[in-house]
Order: sequence, then structure tokens, then C-alpha cells
Amino acid sequence: MNVTVGRRTRRYRTVAFEASENAVLLIEQRLLPHQFKVIATRDFRETARAIQDMIVRGAGAIGATAAYGLAQGARVFHGTDIERFSRHVETVYQTLKAARPTAVDPVNAMNEVRRVMSSGETVSKRQTLALAAAERFAGDDVQHCEAIGRHGAPLIRDGMRILTHCNAGWLAFVDVGTATAPLYAAQAQGKKFHVFCDETRPRSQGATLTAWELAQQGISHEVIADNAAGHLMQRGEIDLIIVGSDRTLGRTGEVANKIGTYTKAVLAERHNIPFYVAIPLSTIDWELSSGRDVPIEERDQSEVLGAWGAVRNPKPETRNPKSTSRVYVRVANPASGARNPGFDVTPPELITGIITPEGILKPNELWRNRRRLDCRARG
Ligand code: MRU
Repeated sequence: MNVTVGRRTRRYRTVAFEASENAVLLIEQRLLPHQFKVIATRDFRETARAIQDMIVRGAGAIGATAAYGLAQGARVFHGTDIERFSRHVETVYQTLKAARPTAVDPVNAMNEVRRVMSSGETVSKRQTLALAAAERFAGDDVQHCEAIGRHGAPLIRDGMRILTHCNAGWLAFVDVGTATAPLYAAQAQGKKFHVFCDETRPRSQGATLTAWELAQQGISHEVIADNAAGHLMQRGEIDLIIVGSDRTLGRTGEVANKIGTYTKAVLAERHNIPFYVAIPLSTIDWELSSGRDVPIEERDQSEVLGAWGAVRNPKPETRNPKSTSRVYVRVANPASGARNPGFDVTPPELITGIITPEGILKPNELWRNRRRLDCRARG
């Protein structure tokens, strides 16, 4: 998407690869919205750390990062021994997979890269195929998001007030986003609407990332405290809800997404508000048969006990007077600990529809359409 910093507007992807330097290029999302910066990770362990530390986050974005990371790791192998190469690739795969457990996109993306690679007869052929497959995953991610926009835009009518949770925008994918794709498509059709961004504590992806994205695109929006959504629904101030997903179970239609999604879905049902989930095909898990089996990431207590923000140039010695520094402030009682599950699972009966690149389906229609969806996922 276009990013305007100062007077300069440039097009960016959230994740890209610089083959000449074997580097993954990532937008440093922890600095947004206060500073826009692209960083490079130069080996697969650094790439895995960038996923773990949430320099890059969001299901599709970490999927593409893991795919590039796998290619990056494969490309540094020296030698011609296929057995040794395969063992090396397995280490790279496991390192990237362990970085964040809930989203299934990294696993689906890396499985696809490995599948494509396996047809190469030599190490060097496999290295070339790995990068081509990673590039293809990233390209497909963009196309899937654009298709979600086409299918989702008709849900949006002039004057609507739409709630979204966390950030399932272009920063959470390679470009365009999922929950935001219908918004961007509707905007391009000239529709006028307003978006409420759930703040999304503890890491505030709604207040920081979604709000920044919508401001960049000139879409009318306001940030609300997570706890305000029920009140607005009760007063008739929300017409439609669109969220993303980190793992959607193809067998059951259950949706794992950022913590707090389930709460919003329960409220939506109570107030008869349509609740949609937007996903690319790489977010579907065809294996698990219960939402209870989704690995829910437990993150550090400090995220709940305090908050990150930015202050302008707190150190007088900083060379650039316009620079900002990221600071953490403790909010909670110093003697208290916290629980911090990062995701929750919403059952299918609370979901009006799943907006996929192949059209809008009921959650229980995914399994029936698995052949078509899985086939499309592989291109
Ligand atoms: O912890 P994050 O920021 O990586 O969480 C992922 C998300 O952004 C959300 O859960 C989102 O709604 C789905 S991912 C596109």
C-alpha cells in the first residue's frame, strides 16, 4: 500500500526479499505509528527472532516471512550433499515454526516451500526453487487479499459503522490485508463509512496499526477502548463487524483470532449484528478437529502489566531532534502478576460468514469445499 511519510509517498509491502543480500525486508511494526522504518534480517535465526519479537506480526505477514526465512536458510547451505542439506532445512523449518505457535500460515507457507523444493535434484536447484516458492506464496497472499476485497465490498453500504478488532490490515499480510480488504475496495467504489478500531490490549494493534493504516488511506475512523464495543452495539452504533483470523479450522469452522474476538462475537449475536471473518486460504487448518487443540500462545506478563508508547527525543544527545524512542510504562500494581493468552477461539454458530478469496462461505461450508479451496491454495 502507499505510505506517506512527511511529503513523500511510496508503495511498500510489509514483507519482501532482497536476493542479492539474502535478506528479508520487514517494516518494523513495533515503532508504528510513531516511526516508519524498514529493517533487514540477514539470517534465518534473525528472521525467526523478528517473528517472535513481533517486528513483523499478523498471520499472512509471518507466513510470508517464514517462507522467505526458509529460503534464506536454504540458500546459505554450502555443499552438494542432499541428505545434509535436508537436515539443515529441517533445522531452519523448526526454528521458524517455533517462533509463534497459533497462526497456521507459517506452517502452511513453509510446507508449500518444502513441497516445491523437493522436486529439485540438486542442492542448488532446491535453493532456487525455495526462493521461487516463497515469492509465489507472497504474491498469492496479495492476490487472495484483493479477492477478499472484491467479495467483501458488497457487504458495506454507505453510512455504515464497522467494527474491527486487532490488525488484520495490510501490515498483517504482504499487502492489502483481509479485514481491511473490503474497506479498501468499498472506498475505491466511492462508498462512505466509518470504522471503529478496537484498541486491542495488551499490544494495542488496533490503536496503533489499524488506526495508522486507515489514517494513511484517508478512511474515517476512531479508536475505541476494547470495553466500549458492547455499549456502542447496544446503542445501535455498529452495523457490521469484520475481523481476521490466525487459524480457521476447515473441519469445524472455528476461528482462532486475537484475544477478545470471541467476546465481540458473543456481543454481536446478542445485538443481531453481522459478524464476518476474512481469511486467505493459507489461514485454513485442515487437520485439527477441535478448537480446543489450537495452540494458544501465552505471551509475557509485561504486556498486560504495562504498555508501550513513544516519547519524542527523550535523550538530549540524540542526533535527530525529531526522532522518537519507544518506552514501556508499568501500569498495574507492582506486586501483581498477569495471565496473557494471545488468542481465543470463536465457535462457528457466532459467525455470519467467512470471506475467502473464493467467495463468502458459512463456517460449516469450508469442509464441503475443501478440495476446491485446497487446490486453489496451491495455485
Ligand atoms: O499477535 P498478532 O498481532 O500477530 O496477532 C495476529 C493478528 O493480527 C490478529 O489476530 C488478526 O486479527 C489476524 S491476523 C491477520
